Amino acid sequence: MLKIPSNLEHRSLLTLADLSDEEMLFLVDLAVDLKKEKKTCRPSTQRLSGRNIAAVFEKPSTRTRCAAAVAAADEGASFEYLGRNDIHLGKKESVADTARVLGGMFDGIVFRGFAHRTVELLAQHAGVPVWNGLTDTSHPTQALADLMTVKEHFGHLEKLKMVYLGDGRNNVCNSLMLACAKAGLDFVNCCPRELSPAPQAVKQARAIAERNRTSIEISEDPHKAVAGANVLYTDVWVSMGEESQFQQRLNLLQPYQVNWGLAEETDNIESDNLIFLHCLPAFHNSETELTRELGALEVTEEVFESSFSRVFEQAENRMHTIKAVMLSSLPPLKNECTVIP
Ligand code: CP
Ligand code: NVA
Repeated sequence: MLKIPSNLEHRSLLTLADLSDEEMLFLVDLAVDLKKEKKTCRPSTQRLSGRNIAAVFEKPSTRTRCAAAVAAADEGASFEYLGRNDIHLGKKESVADTARVLGGMFDGIVFRGFAHRTVELLAQHAGVPVWNGLTDTSHPTQALADLMTVKEHFGHLEKLKMVYLGDGRNNVCNSLMLACAKAGLDFVNCCPRELSPAPQAVKQARAIAERNRTSIEISEDPHKAVAGANVLYTDVWVSMGEESQFQQRLNLLQPYQVNWGLAEETDNIESDNLIFLHCLPAFHNSETELTRELGALEVTEEVFESSFSRVFEQAENRMHTIKAVMLSSLPPLKNECTVIP
């Protein structure tokens, strides 16, 4: 396994901007190694033995919660899930106070929630690393798993073209813009004007892209955007917390659905030069409560279940990447204890 550099120790991960390009790429490579290790053997030492991890979740989660829980269990840490109605956070107790209480008991905190400011306050006051498991504006641990999945398929990241279609201003898309700029992929954010990314997010990603001689484009035209794409990526059209905008999003985003016709327009569908990614959960058929009447939304069943879809590898990689983040932030504890003889 790669040697974990000490400069990542005790650090929070709130957005990918918190990492240098090299640190981000290191975490992706470490996750690849951890995956290989888990599939071939069980490590003789659990590297987070004696550590305690809290998971503060204001929104529901399948992947992020399970990824963090399994990563902690594999490495010997305890894991305490604190859901929206389990603790006082923000209701009877300020975020700063909750942060200080949790920081006194736990070694690290995974947070999922609404306002990005909440995760910033937690990190500011907890005194232990805080890892962002999704806020309204950022989903950095998802983007690490996305890069890992791309690297597993293509063997490299530089000079590939990723096209994201859908809500161009959401958390997943913001993190992907940064991830691609840092890793050297060309990125196209293809969305209707009404859902275009915040100018500041584009500016930040473009500054990194320029340094790495790659590009961040914004396009309204899905047909032009997908030409030559190696990665087609989409996410739900309505993110958690925005449910009231459902009908408006259906109208706006229909032309951005990832379907077979659009995938063919990449010209890479036959050549193993194309993969499809989705952070999940996905509306790809009528088997969910919300899509019983509507059928597929952001991606068709055909593409979702195609030979070039990598969505379940991507989901599994959430666990290996979160484990990489935890191991890098929390060095193993020393064994000897002499306080009480
Ligand atoms: N991709 C992702 O974050 O999934 P969950 O909402 O299930 O955690
Ligand atoms: N953009 C989606 C991502 C879910 C993992 C949301 O915030 O609901």
